Amino acid sequence: MYRKQLFGMLLAAAVLCSSCVSIAEVSDTDSGSVTDTSVCSIPDSSEVSLPVEDSSVCDISDELSEDASDDTEDIVSEVSEADFTFEVIDGVTYINGILLVNKSYLLPESYSPGGLLPEVKSAFDDMVAAAAGDGIKLYVVSGFRSYGTQKYLYESYLKRDPQETVDTYSARPGASEHQTGMAIDVNRCSSSFAGTPEAIWLAEHCAEYGFIVRYPLGKESITGYKYEPWHIRYIGDADLAAYLMENDICLEEYLNVTSVYNSEYKY
Ligand code: DAL
Ligand code: ZN
Repeated sequence: MYRKQLFGMLLAAAVLCSSCVSIAEVSDTDSGSVTDTSVCSIPDSSEVSLPVEDSSVCDISDELSEDASDDTEDIVSEVSEADFTFEVIDGVTYINGILLVNKSYLLPESYSPGGLLPEVKSAFDDMVAAAAGDGIKLYVVSGFRSYGTQKYLYESYLKRDPQETVDTYSARPGASEHQTGMAIDVNRCSSSFAGTPEAIWLAEHCAEYGFIVRYPLGKESITGYKYEPWHIRYIGDADLAAYLMENDICLEEYLNVTSVYNSEYKY
Protein backbone atom coordinates (compact mmCIF):
# COMPACT_ATOMS: atom_id res chain seq x y z
CA MET A 1 0.00 0.00 0.00
CA TYR A 2 2.73 2.42 1.05
CA ARG A 3 4.78 1.64 -2.02
CA LYS A 4 1.76 2.32 -4.21
CA GLN A 5 1.19 5.71 -2.55
CA LEU A 6 4.85 6.59 -2.93
CA PHE A 7 4.76 5.49 -6.53
CA GLY A 8 1.65 7.59 -7.12
CA MET A 9 3.42 10.66 -5.76
CA LEU A 10 6.45 10.04 -7.93
CA LEU A 11 4.21 9.46 -10.92
CA ALA A 12 2.33 12.71 -10.28
CA ALA A 13 5.62 14.60 -10.06
CA ALA A 14 6.78 13.06 -13.29
CA VAL A 15 3.49 13.94 -14.95
CA LEU A 16 3.83 17.56 -13.94
CA CYS A 17 7.39 17.51 -15.22
CA SER A 18 6.41 16.05 -18.60
CA SER A 19 3.47 18.41 -19.03
CA CYS A 20 5.62 21.44 -18.37
CA VAL A 21 8.25 20.30 -20.83
CA SER A 22 5.68 19.62 -23.53
CA ILE A 23 3.80 22.83 -23.01
CA ALA A 24 6.97 24.83 -23.17
CA GLU A 25 7.77 23.21 -26.47
CA VAL A 26 4.53 23.93 -28.29
CA SER A 27 4.56 26.92 -30.56
CA ASP A 28 2.65 28.39 -33.45
CA THR A 29 5.11 27.12 -35.99
CA ASP A 30 3.48 25.11 -38.74
CA SER A 31 5.60 23.41 -41.32
CA GLY A 32 3.17 21.11 -43.14
CA SER A 33 2.12 21.19 -46.77
CA VAL A 34 -1.48 21.06 -48.00
CA THR A 35 -2.37 17.96 -49.97
CA ASP A 36 -5.39 16.25 -48.48
CA THR A 37 -8.95 16.94 -47.46
CA SER A 38 -9.49 14.04 -45.11
CA VAL A 39 -10.61 15.05 -41.68
CA CYS A 40 -10.72 12.52 -38.96
CA SER A 41 -11.27 14.34 -35.76
CA ILE A 42 -14.85 15.12 -36.66
CA PRO A 43 -17.27 12.73 -34.96
CA ASP A 44 -20.37 13.04 -37.08
CA SER A 45 -21.93 13.67 -40.41
CA SER A 46 -20.98 17.29 -39.86
CA GLU A 47 -17.82 16.49 -41.77
CA VAL A 48 -16.22 19.45 -43.38
CA SER A 49 -13.58 19.48 -46.03
CA LEU A 50 -10.53 21.14 -44.71
CA PRO A 51 -7.23 21.55 -46.41
CA VAL A 52 -4.86 19.38 -44.44
CA GLU A 53 -1.29 20.42 -44.63
CA ASP A 54 0.42 17.09 -44.29
CA SER A 55 1.09 14.88 -47.27
CA SER A 56 0.86 11.71 -45.20
CA VAL A 57 -2.54 12.20 -43.63
CA CYS A 58 -3.84 9.14 -45.41
CA ASP A 59 -0.55 7.70 -46.52
CA ILE A 60 0.53 4.50 -44.83
CA SER A 61 3.70 4.06 -46.84
CA ASP A 62 5.92 6.69 -45.28
CA GLU A 63 9.04 5.69 -43.49
CA LEU A 64 10.56 6.73 -40.22
CA SER A 65 12.37 10.00 -40.22
CA GLU A 66 15.73 10.56 -38.59
CA ASP A 67 13.96 12.16 -35.64
CA ALA A 68 12.54 8.83 -34.56
CA SER A 69 15.76 6.90 -35.04
CA ASP A 70 17.91 9.24 -33.00
CA ASP A 71 19.84 7.04 -30.62
CA THR A 72 20.98 9.92 -28.44
CA GLU A 73 17.78 9.84 -26.43
CA ASP A 74 17.93 11.53 -23.08
CA ILE A 75 16.05 9.75 -20.33
CA VAL A 76 14.89 12.60 -18.14
CA SER A 77 12.98 10.61 -15.56
CA GLU A 78 12.31 7.06 -14.63
CA VAL A 79 10.31 5.53 -11.83
CA SER A 80 9.72 1.84 -11.48
CA GLU A 81 7.73 -0.52 -9.33
CA ALA A 82 7.84 -4.19 -10.11
CA ASP A 83 7.02 -4.42 -13.83
CA PHE A 84 5.50 -0.95 -13.98
CA THR A 85 7.86 1.64 -15.42
CA PHE A 86 7.37 5.30 -16.21
CA GLU A 87 9.83 7.04 -18.50
CA VAL A 88 9.98 10.38 -20.25
CA ILE A 89 12.44 10.18 -23.12
CA ASP A 90 13.03 13.31 -25.17
CA GLY A 91 9.70 14.64 -23.96
CA VAL A 92 7.79 11.47 -24.87
CA THR A 93 6.11 9.45 -22.14
CA TYR A 94 6.33 5.68 -21.97
CA ILE A 95 4.61 3.58 -19.34
CA ASN A 96 5.59 -0.05 -19.31
CA GLY A 97 7.18 0.71 -22.66
CA ILE A 98 3.87 1.88 -24.11
CA LEU A 99 4.06 5.31 -25.69
CA LEU A 100 1.30 7.33 -24.06
CA VAL A 101 -0.30 10.38 -25.63
CA ASN A 102 -3.42 12.01 -24.31
CA LYS A 103 -4.55 15.32 -22.81
CA SER A 104 -2.22 14.88 -19.86
CA TYR A 105 0.78 13.51 -21.73
CA LEU A 106 1.72 15.59 -24.72
CA LEU A 107 4.22 15.07 -27.51
CA PRO A 108 6.86 17.63 -28.40
CA GLU A 109 6.15 19.56 -31.58
CA SER A 110 9.30 18.09 -33.08
CA TYR A 111 8.19 14.48 -32.60
CA SER A 112 7.51 13.04 -36.02
CA PRO A 113 7.99 9.52 -37.30
CA GLY A 114 6.94 10.93 -40.69
CA GLY A 115 4.25 8.35 -41.32
CA LEU A 116 2.79 5.18 -39.94
CA LEU A 117 5.45 3.02 -38.32
CA PRO A 118 6.41 0.07 -40.53
CA GLU A 119 5.18 -2.48 -37.98
CA VAL A 120 1.87 -0.67 -37.72
CA LYS A 121 1.43 -0.61 -41.48
CA SER A 122 2.31 -4.30 -41.64
CA ALA A 123 -0.13 -5.23 -38.87
CA PHE A 124 -2.85 -3.16 -40.49
CA ASP A 125 -2.24 -4.76 -43.88
CA ASP A 126 -2.51 -8.21 -42.28
CA MET A 127 -5.77 -7.18 -40.67
CA VAL A 128 -7.14 -5.79 -43.92
CA ALA A 129 -6.36 -9.10 -45.63
CA ALA A 130 -8.07 -11.10 -42.89
CA ALA A 131 -11.09 -8.82 -42.98
CA ALA A 132 -11.32 -9.16 -46.74
CA GLY A 133 -11.42 -12.91 -46.26
CA ASP A 134 -14.53 -12.35 -44.14
CA GLY A 135 -16.04 -10.06 -46.74
CA ILE A 136 -15.19 -6.90 -44.80
CA LYS A 137 -13.45 -3.96 -46.44
CA LEU A 138 -11.23 -1.89 -44.18
CA TYR A 139 -9.07 1.05 -45.21
CA VAL A 140 -7.17 3.97 -43.76
CA VAL A 141 -8.79 7.36 -43.89
CA SER A 142 -6.26 9.04 -41.63
CA GLY A 143 -3.00 7.64 -40.33
CA PHE A 144 -0.05 9.78 -39.37
CA ARG A 145 -0.76 13.43 -38.71
CA SER A 146 2.02 15.87 -37.92
CA TYR A 147 1.83 18.35 -35.09
CA GLY A 148 1.24 21.02 -37.73
CA THR A 149 -1.65 19.13 -39.29
CA GLN A 150 -3.27 18.55 -35.93
CA LYS A 151 -2.87 22.22 -35.10
CA TYR A 152 -4.52 23.18 -38.35
CA LEU A 153 -7.41 20.76 -37.78
CA TYR A 154 -7.98 21.76 -34.18
CA GLU A 155 -7.99 25.44 -35.02
CA SER A 156 -10.37 24.81 -37.91
CA TYR A 157 -12.81 23.10 -35.58
CA LEU A 158 -12.60 26.02 -33.16
CA LYS A 159 -14.09 28.19 -35.89
CA ARG A 160 -17.10 25.91 -35.95
CA ASP A 161 -17.67 24.67 -32.41
CA PRO A 162 -17.07 25.93 -28.88
CA GLN A 163 -13.77 24.76 -27.48
CA GLU A 164 -15.36 22.54 -24.86
CA THR A 165 -17.10 20.69 -27.70
CA VAL A 166 -14.03 20.51 -29.91
CA ASP A 167 -12.05 19.06 -27.03
CA THR A 168 -14.41 16.08 -26.95
CA TYR A 169 -13.56 15.01 -30.49
CA SER A 170 -10.27 16.59 -31.54
CA ALA A 171 -6.93 16.56 -29.80
CA ARG A 172 -5.05 19.79 -29.38
CA PRO A 173 -1.70 19.87 -31.15
CA GLY A 174 0.72 17.64 -29.32
CA ALA A 175 -2.09 15.57 -27.82
CA SER A 176 -3.04 13.43 -30.79
CA GLU A 177 -2.07 9.79 -31.10
CA HIS A 178 -1.95 10.34 -34.84
CA GLN A 179 1.33 12.16 -34.31
CA THR A 180 2.87 8.88 -33.14
CA GLY A 181 2.37 6.97 -36.38
CA MET A 182 0.60 4.30 -34.35
CA ALA A 183 -3.02 5.37 -34.73
CA ILE A 184 -5.33 4.85 -37.68
CA ASP A 185 -8.82 6.08 -38.42
CA VAL A 186 -10.60 3.30 -40.28
CA ASN A 187 -13.22 3.70 -42.98
CA ARG A 188 -15.32 6.56 -41.65
CA CYS A 189 -14.89 9.10 -38.87
CA SER A 190 -18.53 9.31 -38.04
CA SER A 191 -20.80 8.05 -35.31
CA SER A 192 -22.66 6.28 -38.12
CA PHE A 193 -19.71 3.89 -38.34
CA ALA A 194 -20.75 2.37 -35.00
CA GLY A 195 -22.69 -0.85 -35.39
CA THR A 196 -21.73 -1.40 -39.00
CA PRO A 197 -20.38 -4.84 -39.98
CA GLU A 198 -17.00 -3.17 -40.45
CA ALA A 199 -17.01 -1.58 -36.99
CA ILE A 200 -18.14 -4.84 -35.39
CA TRP A 201 -15.44 -6.81 -37.21
CA LEU A 202 -12.83 -4.23 -36.25
CA ALA A 203 -13.73 -4.35 -32.56
CA GLU A 204 -13.79 -8.15 -32.55
CA HIS A 205 -10.55 -8.71 -34.41
CA CYS A 206 -8.26 -5.68 -34.11
CA ALA A 207 -6.55 -7.04 -31.00
CA GLU A 208 -5.36 -10.07 -32.94
CA TYR A 209 -3.18 -7.64 -34.85
CA GLY A 210 -2.06 -5.64 -31.82
CA PHE A 211 -4.63 -2.84 -32.05
CA ILE A 212 -7.18 -1.51 -29.59
CA VAL A 213 -10.19 0.72 -30.12
CA ARG A 214 -8.65 3.61 -28.27
CA TYR A 215 -11.71 5.66 -27.26
CA PRO A 216 -14.37 3.15 -26.23
CA LEU A 217 -18.02 3.74 -25.54
CA GLY A 218 -18.63 4.54 -21.88
CA LYS A 219 -15.07 5.64 -21.21
CA GLU A 220 -15.49 9.24 -22.32
CA SER A 221 -14.79 10.72 -18.91
CA ILE A 222 -11.58 8.71 -18.66
CA THR A 223 -10.14 9.02 -22.15
CA GLY A 224 -11.40 12.59 -22.51
CA TYR A 225 -12.98 11.85 -25.90
CA LYS A 226 -16.26 10.74 -27.37
CA TYR A 227 -16.63 7.20 -28.55
CA GLU A 228 -14.57 6.71 -31.70
CA PRO A 229 -15.16 3.19 -33.03
CA TRP A 230 -13.01 4.05 -36.05
CA HIS A 231 -9.84 5.10 -34.18
CA ILE A 232 -7.50 2.22 -33.47
CA ARG A 233 -4.16 2.40 -31.71
CA TYR A 234 -1.34 -0.07 -32.20
CA ILE A 235 -0.16 -1.54 -28.91
CA GLY A 236 1.90 -4.27 -30.49
CA ASP A 237 1.33 -6.88 -27.80
CA ALA A 238 -1.65 -8.84 -29.09
CA ASP A 239 -2.22 -10.49 -25.70
CA LEU A 240 -2.40 -7.12 -23.97
CA ALA A 241 -4.60 -5.71 -26.71
CA ALA A 242 -6.96 -8.69 -26.31
CA TYR A 243 -6.98 -8.26 -22.55
CA LEU A 244 -7.95 -4.60 -22.88
CA MET A 245 -10.59 -5.20 -25.54
CA GLU A 246 -12.16 -8.25 -23.91
CA ASN A 247 -12.34 -6.63 -20.50
CA ASP A 248 -13.40 -3.22 -21.75
CA ILE A 249 -10.42 -1.48 -20.19
CA CYS A 250 -9.23 1.70 -21.84
CA LEU A 251 -5.56 2.60 -21.94
CA GLU A 252 -5.85 5.25 -19.23
CA GLU A 253 -7.43 2.71 -16.90
CA TYR A 254 -4.78 0.13 -17.60
CA LEU A 255 -1.92 2.56 -17.12
CA ASN A 256 -3.65 4.31 -14.22
CA VAL A 257 -3.31 7.78 -15.70
CA THR A 258 -5.54 10.77 -16.37
CA SER A 259 -6.34 12.54 -19.62
CA VAL A 260 -6.86 16.18 -18.71
CA TYR A 261 -5.22 19.27 -20.15
CA ASN A 262 -2.95 21.23 -17.89
CA SER A 263 -4.60 24.59 -17.27
CA GLU A 264 -1.47 26.24 -18.67
CA TYR A 265 -2.15 24.73 -22.09
CA LYS A 266 -4.46 27.46 -23.30
CA TYR A 267 -6.00 27.96 -26.66
N1 DAL B 1 -9.90 12.41 -32.69
C1 DAL B 1 -8.72 12.14 -31.91
C2 DAL B 1 -8.99 12.30 -30.44
C3 DAL B 1 -7.58 13.03 -32.32
O1 DAL B 1 -7.83 14.16 -32.72
O2 DAL B 1 -6.45 12.58 -32.24
ZN1 ZN C 1 -8.18 9.12 -34.97
